[in-house]
Amino acid sequence: MCHSLLSTLILFILIVFWAQKVEVLSQVTGYVGLNVTLPCSFIQGKESSNVTQSQRDFLSPDRNKTCIIVFNKQHGKSVYESHLKGRVDMDDQSLQIKNVELSDAGSYICTINTFPLGSFHDTTELHVQGECKINL
Ligand SMILES: *[C@@H]1O[C@H](CO)[C@@H](O)[C@H](O)[C@H]1NC(C)=O
Ligand SMILES: *[C@@H]1O[C@H](CO)[C@@H](O)[C@H](O)[C@H]1NC(C)=O
Ligand SMILES: *[C@@H]1O[C@H](CO)[C@@H](O)[C@H](O)[C@H]1NC(C)=O
Repeated sequence: MCHSLLSTLILFILIVFWAQKVEVLSQVTGYVGLNVTLPCSFIQGKESSNVTQSQRDFLSPDRNKTCIIVFNKQHGKSVYESHLKGRVDMDDQSLQIKNVELSDAGSYICTINTFPLGSFHDTTELHVQGECKINL
């Protein structure tokens, strides 16, 4: 009884630590006029899977979802029409936003498609602070 409980626990730990996943920072703070990087990477688990494509979507505070950029291993990079166009780049799965604006605040969903295990995603919350710190 105790033994089987222990086995279950060990199995659970192995699943938790060996499962493949997308790793992001859950919260990032950007400052108006500066650059910010939102890291995102695919962590291999027990079964290996190759990254084929990664994508970033923006979810505004009013829950409007916009595709920002897609990077495909074979076909390259495609930047979509969004308020971030011209200020955004993706390098090795991390998203860089240049010259941050207040309206950039919101949720950034990182989706990584892999073969053969399919797609994984996680979200980073970007908080934006004004450049002037006003002490009241
Ligand atoms: C933001 O990034 C761009 C290009 O990577 C660089 O030229 C610029 O100096 C950076 N700005 C700041 C404030 O670091
Ligand atoms: C991942 O890609 C490498 C190189 O293309 C290939 O050798 C390997 O079999 C692939 N692995 C899987 C799980 O598809
Ligand atoms: C959602 O975003 C799209 C693209 O940025 C924009 O055209 C549309 O008006 C937005 N919808 C709402 C309800 O804000």
